[in-house]
Amino acid sequence: MRVAVLGLGYVGTVTAACLAAHGHDVWGVDVDTTKVRLITDGRSPVVEPGLDGLVAEGVRRHRLHATTSAVEALEGADISLLCVGTPSTTRGGTDLTYVRRAVEDVAAALMVVSPPSSGVHAVVVRSTVPPGTVDGVVAPMLVDLLDGSPLRVGTAMCPEFLREGSGISDFFHPPLVVAGTADARVARLVSELFAFLDDPVRVVDVRTAEALKYASNAFHATKISFANEMARLYRLLDVDARQVMELFCEDTVLNISSAYLRPGFAFGGSCLPKDLRSLLHLARVNSADLPLLAGTLASNTLAVNEVVDRIVAADARRLALLGLSFKTDTDDLRESPNVELAERLIGKGIDVRIYDPVVNPTRLVGANRQYVESRLPHLHRLLTPDPLSALDSADVAVVSTTDRDVVAALLACPSPRVIDLSGRLGPDVESLPGYEGVGW
Ligand SMILES: NC(=O)c1ccc[n+]([C@@H]2O[C@H](COP(=O)([O-])OP(=O)(O)OC[C@H]3O[C@@H](n4cnc5c(N)ncnc54)[C@H](O)[C@@H]3O)[C@@H](O)[C@H]2O)c1
Repeated sequence: MRVAVLGLGYVGTVTAACLAAHGHDVWGVDVDTTKVRLITDGRSPVVEPGLDGLVAEGVRRHRLHATTSAVEALEGADISLLCVGTPSTTRGGTDLTYVRRAVEDVAAALMVVSPPSSGVHAVVVRSTVPPGTVDGVVAPMLVDLLDGSPLRVGTAMCPEFLREGSGISDFFHPPLVVAGTADARVARLVSELFAFLDDPVRVVDVRTAEALKYASNAFHATKISFANEMARLYRLLDVDARQVMELFCEDTVLNISSAYLRPGFAFGGSCLPKDLRSLLHLARVNSADLPLLAGTLASNTLAVNEVVDRIVAADARRLALLGLSFKTDTDDLRESPNVELAERLIGKGIDVRIYDPVVNPTRLVGANRQYVESRLPHLHRLLTPDPLSALDSADVAVVSTTDRDVVAALLACPSPRVIDLSGRLGPDVESLPGYEGVGW
């Protein structure tokens, strides 16, 4: 394929050199003449292990070219990859000036160059941009600027996951290859571009692809701060945090895994809130600040507040709470966010009926019983024997259990509003007219 790469920084140079190494005819464009000259001379403008050799090889085999002219680069090009910078604005937003300028350059070039043989050109954003940028900025600009052109142009977002220092190896072994586009022709072009990689291209909607990159970087940053907060506290307790974290990482079932990474409702139960409080207490008495961990408790409170606010705003009078324990298949009610939710809603004068497939108040014992008696002293009066009785005349159903009887009852007797706290109720419930996810 003939590929134009706009922006020859870290991402652009690695991308251009690696695509050229796989036989594509790659034309890099940069406004910086020094970078263009370096590549033309067979040298990389950025320091990255192995990149000088790859650039030299690409230039020698006439697979890699560099120019300041978008027109030259886009002549007959199937794809343009936008790899320009997206720096922070002074207020922390994303400065899209370079993206806009690159789109203008691409559009101006497309108006004058010969089209690719397929008659379709894909403008693919590789820079990290906020969700909504491709559909809200790039695509409308292209429609406007290419008015009257017979060329069919589609757009996509393909986030780049490479890390500086291991850019080439990351490019050839990416954790994921994602194309965010609603355009099947563009999806095909991107799949063809990356056909040499082992992984198939995952085609998703544009906003998902844009959001994925931010989620990934936020998670990486959170992981680093988490490890550092552990070390900040454990050093004071004479514990070697390196050893703790090495063992921690050996748990690939709960720690380094997809466990606990599904969006949903607040955490609760007999351990997580208690042990977090305990760590934060240790930090306080040892004068260590752990803002990330403290933030998780604050964030958890927000998760409950947000659902309470939504229900109050809906002016609900009668509410069915389907699922009371902190997770399915247990009757442990200690620090269940659902108990907190019930307590807060009852306090607001809402008539709350509760169904839980497992909880039986006569069988609750010990700390579990004490906890629920302190928070919901009349639980036996609120509980219904089946989900339909809870749903009867309810304005809102708040559902945390995925129990089969509950799902069947929701379908048989749909409430005007169903708030799903688990995200696991299945497509039938999700297509009910009153359905809404807690965070989706
Ligand atoms: N650096 C990384 O490790 C990395 C990894 C993944 C994603 N990203 C994202 O990729 C994007 C690029 O990052 P980078 O580190 O390569 O940036 P960079 O600053 O190193 O390079 C950007 C290049 O774009 C050029 N440029 C600006 N406007 C241009 C135009 N109109 N036409 C042609 N060239 C133009 C600049 O001169 C510069 O050489 C950013 O959005 C970044 O967030 C970076």
